[in-house]
Amino acid sequence: MNIVVVGTGYVGLVTGTCLADLGHRVTCVDIDARKIDFLKRGTSPIYEEGLEALIQKNIHLGNLLFFTSLTSAVSDAEIIFIAVGTPSDVSGKADLQYVYAVANELGQCLDHNVIVVNKSTVPVGTAAEVGRMIAQNFSGACEVVSCPEFLREGTAVNDFFHPDRIVLGVRSRAAEDVMLKVFEAVQCPKVVTTVESAEMIKYASNAFLATKISFINEIANICERVGANVEEVAYGMGLDSRIGNKFLRAGIGYGGSCFPKDIRALNQIAGINGYDFKLLKGVIEVNNNQRLLAVEKLNRLTGGLRGKTIAMLGVAFKSNTDDVRESAAIDISELLLERGVRYLRTHDPAALMNAKKILDKRVALFEDPYAMVQGCDGMMLATEWEQFRHLDWQKIRSMMRTPVLVDGRNLLDPVRMQRLGFLYDSIGRTLTASPSSQFKTNRVVVREGNK
Ligand code: UGA
Repeated sequence: MNIVVVGTGYVGLVTGTCLADLGHRVTCVDIDARKIDFLKRGTSPIYEEGLEALIQKNIHLGNLLFFTSLTSAVSDAEIIFIAVGTPSDVSGKADLQYVYAVANELGQCLDHNVIVVNKSTVPVGTAAEVGRMIAQNFSGACEVVSCPEFLREGTAVNDFFHPDRIVLGVRSRAAEDVMLKVFEAVQCPKVVTTVESAEMIKYASNAFLATKISFINEIANICERVGANVEEVAYGMGLDSRIGNKFLRAGIGYGGSCFPKDIRALNQIAGINGYDFKLLKGVIEVNNNQRLLAVEKLNRLTGGLRGKTIAMLGVAFKSNTDDVRESAAIDISELLLERGVRYLRTHDPAALMNAKKILDKRVALFEDPYAMVQGCDGMMLATEWEQFRHLDWQKIRSMMRTPVLVDGRNLLDPVRMQRLGFLYDSIGRTLTASPSSQFKTNRVVVREGNK
């Protein structure tokens, strides 16, 4: 099938490239000429495992083209995916200006019947509005369907080919048949719904996952007070198939380009429709508070942050990505500077270039984690990169001026860190966080009994 994908951000580029790999003829369109130039040469502008190789393969096969002009791209398109950004505006509402700009342009340049697919995360009613906008200038048949994306950064290519489900919000049987054909080669449940339900499924899914994270973070905070270990608790809870074991990792809270924005948007949608979504407000508040709690731990263990030299290990919003948008680490860096930290340093295996654009200029960036920790008074582990687990922690301990370590992702073994001589604290796993008293931690070992 001839498919056009508008927008070459994470969603658009992964979707377009993977659809090409399924055998469709895909043209990706973006107004950013520099990006399109890179892509034509087979260079991915984003760090996403397996993506660049797939782009190169499909360019070579002639399945994947890159354009800056929407008009030329859509001339023989059967399906047009809209995958442009929907950032938060100042009130938290999804800003739909980019989606509507595409809809307007489509109205002006379409000259044949097509199906338009909303991939961008948009409030309920947006597909209908996009349809109305196109119809202002185009009198042919154009059904707008909703096909929300559930890709995770870092595993997006694998998620595309092996999704838990594909949701298709359609108005007609004809559109349903076309969309089922687009994804025919992908083996998973295909959930066909109304357009409005599909739009809602996306927000509800992200909000539910964020709720799980805030829930386990609150449990972690109580665990610290009662002497329980949140990892054991999460494990024990997660074995109940009604609960599931995913998204129960306690820490400094969720970040990224999706959860914070989508949770705010759903809260807004509820509000403007006269509903007070109390639970979601709590989810946001708990998430913000986790950053503060972690900074408070570092403050306590260092005996006050003012004037100190602090290292922040990791700045990406999660591991395996170079994305720093709404990263907990960025919030934490701001809090540390507000608390009077004198020198703040950071290292990340992939995200330093992006971090440089948004971090306070006072934060020093280090390519080498060992160079970063030299002479530091304390460290905050802010991203769960697997390679951090395998650093030479003994060496780090000896290089730091005072070996204070707050593990905001519960990545390291508390007992080992303590044995190495760190003043170590994490989230929901320790009984005390006082630098003077003896450290007591629950060992994170789960022994499964015979069934
Ligand atoms: C998320 C969803 O998981 C995708 O299904 C969705 O398609 C995407 O948003 C989107 O709407 O575009 P992503 O933002 O890539 O994907 O990241 P996640 O892996 O979901 O992690 C989000 C945040 O939650 C990260 O900061 C992560 O560190 C944090 N997290 C995750 C926890 O703190 N605890 C957990 O147990 C899991």
